[in-house]
Amino acid sequence: MGKDVIIALDFPAKDKALEFLGRFGEKRPFVKIGMELFYAEGPQLVRELKERGHRIFLDLKLHDIPSTVKSAMAVLSRLNADICNLHAGGTVNMMKAALEGLTRPDGTRPLLIAVTQLTSTDQESMERDLLIKEPIDKVVMHYALCAKEAGLDGVVCSPLEAGKVHEVCGSGFLTVTPGVRFAESDTGDQKRVMTPAAAKEAGADYIVVGRPIIRAEDPLAAYERCLKEFVG
Ligand code: C5P
Repeated sequence: MGKDVIIALDFPAKDKALEFLGRFGEKRPFVKIGMELFYAEGPQLVRELKERGHRIFLDLKLHDIPSTVKSAMAVLSRLNADICNLHAGGTVNMMKAALEGLTRPDGTRPLLIAVTQLTSTDQESMERDLLIKEPIDKVVMHYALCAKEAGLDGVVCSPLEAGKVHEVCGSGFLTVTPGVRFAESDTGDQKRVMTPAAAKEAGADYIVVGRPIIRAEDPLAAYERCLKEFVG
């Protein structure tokens, strides 16, 4: 898969998501289904969107004991999502178990990427709540290396970290980056943001874009602008 824009379908229910996708005509953008929509609508929505021809990043961020994650991943794998994810904090053993669960009898599987430290975690909360005293950049790179060691395909990271992740883990290790904003738009609650063009420059493989597209007056135009800036 090459560079692409993934639209975060951050909607509370299926009708809103379908109404939104209706504005794309025959286009079938790559979409992300997160916890809110998945918990509201369940696996059927994933099947439906796959049948319509969308590629899907199922952003459920699993984190549990290895055997539980393995069996949960086996269930998700049958939904034919294109990308699944988990928390690298679950350890290398958990990530290896997840990959085993995700791998279908014919050897194929969705891509699997890891969340390192959430972008909502800063140095202070990491030190105080998690008792991790190392610099956060070092922690993020360490978690990325653990994900690579476990055999995963990449990480979710800030576009500002994409270049460093490629340096440390290799250029083939995928970087999927949220926190993207147009130069003139509101950053909302995202603290460290980049434009689609800057994310491209930084070497991100996929950008995940929510509000700049789903809340745009003209979502299709906003999506096409992202594609133009990021993919070219
Ligand atoms: O609206 P916005 O473009 O900020 O949406 C970004 C999407 O990426 C949201 O669905 C958010 O949950 C997700 N995300 C993120 N930061 C992470 C992981 C996921 O913003 N570290």
